[in-house]
Amino acid sequence: MQKSLFILGRQSTLAFAELESLYPDITLTPIGTSAAIIDTNPTEVNFKRIGGSVKLAAVLTELPTIDWNKIVDYVSTALPEHVTYLPEGKLKLGFSVYGLNITAATINKSALQIKKIIKQSGRSIRIVPNSEQTLNSAQVLHNQLTSPLGLELIFVRNGDKTIIAQTIAEQDIESYAARDQKRPMRDARVGMLPPKLAQIIVNLAVGSKVQSKKDQPTSSVVLDPFCGTGVVLQEAGLMGFAPYGTDLDERMVRYSRDNINWLQQNWSITFDWHLEVGDATSLQWRKPLDAIACETYLGRPFSSLPDQDTLTEVMSDVNLILKRFLQNVARQTDSGFPLCIAVPAWKTPAGFKHLKLLDSLEVLGYTRQSFVHASAEELIYFREGQIVARELVVLKRS
Ligand SMILES: C[S@@+](CC[C@H](N)C(=O)[O-])C[C@H]1O[C@@H](n2cnc3c(N)ncnc32)[C@H](O)[C@@H]1O
Repeated sequence: MQKSLFILGRQSTLAFAELESLYPDITLTPIGTSAAIIDTNPTEVNFKRIGGSVKLAAVLTELPTIDWNKIVDYVSTALPEHVTYLPEGKLKLGFSVYGLNITAATINKSALQIKKIIKQSGRSIRIVPNSEQTLNSAQVLHNQLTSPLGLELIFVRNGDKTIIAQTIAEQDIESYAARDQKRPMRDARVGMLPPKLAQIIVNLAVGSKVQSKKDQPTSSVVLDPFCGTGVVLQEAGLMGFAPYGTDLDERMVRYSRDNINWLQQNWSITFDWHLEVGDATSLQWRKPLDAIACETYLGRPFSSLPDQDTLTEVMSDVNLILKRFLQNVARQTDSGFPLCIAVPAWKTPAGFKHLKLLDSLEVLGYTRQSFVHASAEELIYFREGQIVARELVVLKRS
């Protein structure tokens, strides 16, 4: 069986947790910090719904060396045979190298050498030049390297060996950008949750147990009780779930409605959805509910670190709202009910400050989920320069 190799995004801990969550019964092997292998055929992976990985590749072989010259020798011998299986026409070839100590210039030189050999075998071929060790998703997409005439070879160092894989799918950056920037209703004040992060949140919530529509007659309901402009709802809908959004602010519910309508029209997709105004600390949600996935209230936004008193006040304010929210959810759900909530953590020179309630989840009726390759505390989405980070808390109702 062919194995799947995932090239992980910027925050590899989130990517590991997401893959573990989606494939709990399949062996996942980290390859350094930039990649992971899963013992499943890449044709069985629905890469479009994965937010934390940037490329999906099929493992071709593993060489017992990290010597670039030997690797190039191998490719020069194996590739002419490999390309005979590709359709007629001009081929496009690209290379991405992870973890091996070589420069882009060396990669380009080797690529030209390989181009010559392929040409001698009678095929016309164009090389996509490297300006760095790796080609990014945009280069793979725009040069059609995952089309029938395209070929991106990925080389990943695995200890003293090198894995060679062929890219099957890359992150669809254009679609993500459109889902993010082209939707009619946005609000910088409530924050801009990247669609990729929303996918990770939904995947961590639903795992492999809550099935999407393609596997059953009616969709499972994913609730976002702090829906804002509806990024989580949009992504849940695209992933085959029935999104249910509630928010304290009537204007936000209107924004979500407009954004969902826009998404359904522009993506030619239909899914069941429901929205209502309500306070997450007291609202009685309608049933059924299959999972909760949300970015909660994050407190006041900060562009620089506030003084200690202000920070303490904001933290305790958010803590109280979220505590009451979790108590409200606990009253309405049964044991095993899954949640992934993105809560704020504040970056200070002494490290991240976490919400106090995270220390009393058991008392509130929840068990925090941990992952083999990412500890619970590592699931923090953070960009340099930010004060308010998002900590992803994955829970099961006890
Ligand atoms: C960080 S924003 C979520 C943004 C959202 N992920 C989006 O896609 O736009 C938090 C949202 O929580 C809402 N909110 C704050 N307190 C709430 C409460 N007690 N119950 C329900 N919603 C609340 C705010 O109106 C705001 O829309």
